[in-house]
Amino acid sequence: MYFKESQGFPKDFLWGSASAAYQVEGGWNADGKGLSNWDKFVRIPGKTFKATTGDKAVDHYHRYKEDVRLMAEMGLKTYRFSIAWSRIYPNGNGEINEAGLKFYDDLINELLKYGIEPMVTVYHWDMPQALEDEYHGWESRQIVDDYVNYATTLFKRYGDRVKYWITMNEQNIFTSFGWLKGMHPPGKENDMKTFYQVNHHANMAHAGAVLALKELYPEAKVGASFAYSPCYAYDRKPENAMAKADYDDLQNYWWMDIYAYGRYPRSAWAYLESHGVTPDVLPGDMETLKKAAALVDFMGVNYYQTCVAEYNDINGVGMSNTMNTTGKKGTAQIQGIPGLYKNPANDYLPTTDWDWTIDPMGLRMCCRDITSRYDLPIVISENGLGAFDKVEGGKIHDPYRIAYLKAHIEELKKACDDGCRVLAYCTWSYTDLLSWLNGYQKRYGFVYVDREEDENSGTLNRIPKDSYYWYKKVIETNGEEL
Ligand code: BG6
Repeated sequence: MYFKESQGFPKDFLWGSASAAYQVEGGWNADGKGLSNWDKFVRIPGKTFKATTGDKAVDHYHRYKEDVRLMAEMGLKTYRFSIAWSRIYPNGNGEINEAGLKFYDDLINELLKYGIEPMVTVYHWDMPQALEDEYHGWESRQIVDDYVNYATTLFKRYGDRVKYWITMNEQNIFTSFGWLKGMHPPGKENDMKTFYQVNHHANMAHAGAVLALKELYPEAKVGASFAYSPCYAYDRKPENAMAKADYDDLQNYWWMDIYAYGRYPRSAWAYLESHGVTPDVLPGDMETLKKAAALVDFMGVNYYQTCVAEYNDINGVGMSNTMNTTGKKGTAQIQGIPGLYKNPANDYLPTTDWDWTIDPMGLRMCCRDITSRYDLPIVISENGLGAFDKVEGGKIHDPYRIAYLKAHIEELKKACDDGCRVLAYCTWSYTDLLSWLNGYQKRYGFVYVDREEDENSGTLNRIPKDSYYWYKKVIETNGEEL
């Protein structure tokens, strides 16, 4: 939409990269850490690609200094990482584990030593198993207090050094995979009623954390990271445009309206009512959600792909619990909600080996939509390409990753020119890491890690890929040289 010359990225733009505790740390039972739901889930046969676990992951727990040094050499401005709740509270609540707190103290101090802004995700899916055993985790309202207590412990300990906080990573993904598709813990399928209840609890937990943080550190910046897949209507047929509206209300605005406004979209609520699956909302909840929403500083966006919405007959396809986790192109399946929409492939767009569409312009649309609907600043908390990488003569040439990131950054720059207030761009991911359901062969990092699916494979040595040197230039030129 802009007509003048590009203004480029803001001067203090945070060029970053991201990770999550379970996917990089390893040290699954080190120094007093408790068991997490993922430590248990990955041991159920058939749940992950080739039974991969994060037991050792890429051993960031022991190699964080080397990883941070490489970040510093690259010139990284911010590093987004998550904290493992079960390192801090091995039982989810009660006794605190000082060794766990100290690990993140050391990591934060190491980042600050090089002038890298820590961006902390409070919850990136690994919940203490003890809470699952005690009261079924997110299914119980009790988790709200335990989560807020855990988050407050982090704010008190690190709030003097950490300015950027992300309360929840992809609430839409961990709840739909956990209660509708059976592919994440606790492995339940098609349980709509519990799915919405769990989400209400997660919303209350997020809100409680926002309020607690702002009480302690009013200057801190906080938001949630949402997995945003913008959606195109299949064609100009009105029923397909309505399918898109239904998709947006139930799959996107259902969460983002809570974070930004503290309310549920009316038409989605009406749909839930007609199906008897509305969550129990206690007196005062909506006021709390609104209060927290007024204090949220940004919308966190994890952007990977777009989708298509087409009207889905009442006897049409439902939720699928299979997906392409092998990297064999063309094995993904269409899914949907009967009577509302289904998501067919988009033949205008290329796809990755895991059948994710590649749509750089979708990133600009995300930003535009958030800006129009919420008028909030935006943190792109994840964006990246999962691909097979090969080591050739000790080097990793990944022009496909560079092309992917370049195209997305170009569109992000246009979003800035359109007036969107984008604060940060974090690629997924910094080092290679465990892709939850897809093992170690689906690589995302700037830094290659020598390991494969087998727990005993590889040296875990780090090798910067071509994309590492390319991103270094991008940062140096504030996105002018792509
Ligand atoms: C996001 C998650 O869903 O996408 C990350 O926040 C995840 O944890 C990333 O790894 C890529 O997904 P996948 O399934 O390819 O690992």
